[in-house]
Amino acid sequence: AKQPVRVLVTGAAGQIGYALVPMIARGVMLGPDQPVILHMLDIAPAAEALNGVKMELVDAAFPLLKGVVATTDVVEACTEVNIAVMVGGFPRKEGMERKDVMSKNVAIYKSQASALEKHAAANCKVLVVANPANTNALILKEFAPSIPEKNISCLTRLDHNRALGQVSERLNVPVSDVKNVIIWGNHSSTQYPDVNHASVKTPAGEKPHFLPSTEDLSFTSLIRLHGEFITTVQQRGAAIIKARKLSSALSAASSACDHIRDWVLGTPEGTWVSMGVYSDGSYNVPAGLIYSFPVTCRNGEWTIVQGLPIDALSRKKLDLTAEELTEEKELAYSCLS
Ligand code: NAI
Repeated sequence: AKQPVRVLVTGAAGQIGYALVPMIARGVMLGPDQPVILHMLDIAPAAEALNGVKMELVDAAFPLLKGVVATTDVVEACTEVNIAVMVGGFPRKEGMERKDVMSKNVAIYKSQASALEKHAAANCKVLVVANPANTNALILKEFAPSIPEKNISCLTRLDHNRALGQVSERLNVPVSDVKNVIIWGNHSSTQYPDVNHASVKTPAGEKPHFLPSTEDLSFTSLIRLHGEFITTVQQRGAAIIKARKLSSALSAASSACDHIRDWVLGTPEGTWVSMGVYSDGSYNVPAGLIYSFPVTCRNGEWTIVQGLPIDALSRKKLDLTAEELTEEKELAYSCLS
């Protein structure tokens, strides 16, 4: 039998945490034959609620769940974990300056980086979900220098999945027949959801979207896809808040599982996904930012898809979101001094 994998979820008493931990315990993240031990961290004011989540995990009698650690102690939470999903953070409240929110999160990610560096299992993979996700991941990377940079990522898979969902809705095809959309850049409204390289399965085989000769996709549906598609994906988080009075939780949790599963178990042949990873300068994105790229995964490692042609409009959008990330990075560093 397989040894259990220890999975840390920070902010586990929050709404994403509540949706995420049962998915992990059911094998959605690591597969139906992989036992898990859940480590759940939250802060003292949420300790009682966190214990309630632990009680429900016991009550659900998940066969794959071999143990639960529920704690407000960062060291205990991080000890020996193989995967860390960082959902905990300080939310932006009404009237707060960007700098104040950044400063709170920089402090949190700096201290959690040190705990992970000292106490996590070797080769621990880290996924940052909490906003500002790319910059929190960057701070975590900077303050955990012994964790390889390839092991630190942030979540843009929700945006990627939203883009797949929008293509599916607009072209009226099953979402499982759509692939290879791309989210470039920041997990914010400057992200660039790119369908230029995407394809949909049709009875005639796989086809790129925008081939004018695509006889089985109507011209108007293509126009609609072009038109408001980008802003719809960029603004989807706000639309969910408006509708639910709460931010995305089940879709965020599900996408976090997709992110880790593909990273650990690999992406299907011919398919790429979007991950926020440390830029090496690919596509002329400044090195040293955590930026969302198209990646393929194999043997537990991601690789940025190379050589996709970038048209002039796309170039502008790739640069715009990079500029925002550079500013966020500067703001984060100004909070450190
Ligand atoms: P929430 O407010 O319901 O839960 C956050 C939890 O984190 C709370 O239980 C809080 O007590 C805890 N927390 C705060 N400081 C902590 C610390 N220092 N250590 C451990 N836990 C701490 O928020 P929700 O809806 O679960 O969202 C969590 C984060 O995920 C937010 O930052 C949100 O903006 C972000 N998010 C990111 C998405 C993405 O695609 N990257 C999508 C949706 C949300």
